[in-house]
Amino acid sequence: MVDERIAIYPGSFDPLTLGHDDIVRRCLRLVDRVLIAIAASASEAKSPAFSLDERVELTREVYSDEPRVEVVPFEGLLVDFARRRGARLIVRGLRAVSDFEYEFQMALMNRSLWPEIEVIFMAPASNYTFLSSSLVREVARLGGDVSGFVPLPVLRELARVYGAAVTGE
Ligand code: PNS
Repeated sequence: MVDERIAIYPGSFDPLTLGHDDIVRRCLRLVDRVLIAIAASASEAKSPAFSLDERVELTREVYSDEPRVEVVPFEGLLVDFARRRGARLIVRGLRAVSDFEYEFQMALMNRSLWPEIEVIFMAPASNYTFLSSSLVREVARLGGDVSGFVPLPVLRELARVYGAAVTGE
């Protein structure tokens, strides 16, 4: 479709949380397709839970019933990837004011690298404003119950890596 509206939702997704999923579903109300672009380097993650291949496979499984969501790995500059894929819209979730400075810097840098890109910030449901992948990893690593924070396939894989306690059963 020539006039298809594609949003690119980039991130590390280590792992995808219900907060991310909330943004994806809100985004699907605004655009035709959402491209979840999973960054090869998850540099902020000192102890990553999943490899790039695992993050891609797991996220694909979460959206296996949603034909309008595509999950792809990427490396290099996000704007180069977006341009290659014909996406002119980057979506990022903003949970709190503390996210703003970093997100604003990235948005302006991305736009100076490729002036045709637009960046929109979306607020997740309020019950997810405290949620982050790094907190989920930490709680899971310490054997806490993360069943309220991640989709089922992610919970299953966290349980495989960190033990059954993470399911709360
Ligand atoms: O989920 P994260 O870790 O906050 O996502 C950050 C991400 C992957 C979106 C950002 O680091 C990124 O876009 N990396 C790709 C490299 C790039 O384009 N860097 C310049 C951004 S201004």
